[in-house]
Amino acid sequence: MLILRDIRKSYRIGPTEVDVLKGVDLDIHKGELTSIMGPSGCGKSTLMNIIGLLDRPTSGRFQLDGADVSYSNDDALSEIRNRRIGFVFQQYFLLSRLSAIENVELPLIYRGDRQGFTRERSMELLRRVGMADRAGHRPSELSGGQQQRVAIARALVGAPSLILADEPTGALDTKVGGEIMELFHTLNREDGITIVIITHDPGIARQCGSVAVMNDGVIVK
Ligand SMILES: Nc1ncnc2c1ncn2[C@@H]1O[C@H](COP(=O)(O)OP(=O)(O)OP(=O)(O)O)[C@@H](O)[C@H]1O
Ligand SMILES: [Mg+2]
Repeated sequence: MLILRDIRKSYRIGPTEVDVLKGVDLDIHKGELTSIMGPSGCGKSTLMNIIGLLDRPTSGRFQLDGADVSYSNDDALSEIRNRRIGFVFQQYFLLSRLSAIENVELPLIYRGDRQGFTRERSMELLRRVGMADRAGHRPSELSGGQQQRVAIARALVGAPSLILADEPTGALDTKVGGEIMELFHTLNREDGITIVIITHDPGIARQCGSVAVMNDGVIVK
């Protein structure tokens, strides 16, 4: 589903060029649950932003679902991103003035879906993540683990084939983090969603079907 070849990313800061990704090769198959590990600053989030079409590599080739997206224009990339990719972050990024269900609904509203449908579909996803009974709650009325469940429902609402999660359990204790991992496993197994999880936690990486280890801008294992 994902093929990355010799992906490089450099940032220019004033007169100096900083090489962050130095030739990443990575294959992720459809239906896989993969984790990416590696020390802080090695380029994991940078890589995730490239895989998620939020950022472009400086050079390298990148295929998504058989299509080479290396040369696609920005509009084409956002279209692919909105239709096929869901994001989950350590900080949840829920909008505090909206209820759980309104947060989940937002991506569907942005893409112009009909309102009756967006409600129903969002409720279905809240049910899927075990949060149906909290649909009317604001984020501040939810625990961290519950907020992350809502964020996962939001990531899933557009029926993506790929979920990218950057340290999804980073702000949670071991028990709740384990429950969130359980949920990812279920979604992977039952819905066949391809999932990539960035983590610092070797225990979490061990639960994933495959582990890519990064160091200093390359995948070392
Ligand atoms: N927009 C940017 N401009 C300049 N440098 C950047 C930018 N984004 C990231 N970097 C640099 O790229 C390197 C890798 O950052 P990245 O966020 O990918 O690391 P990471 O592996 O996700 O680390 P962590 O585990 O701490 O989240 C860092 O040295 C960072 O300073
Ligand atoms: Mg990071």
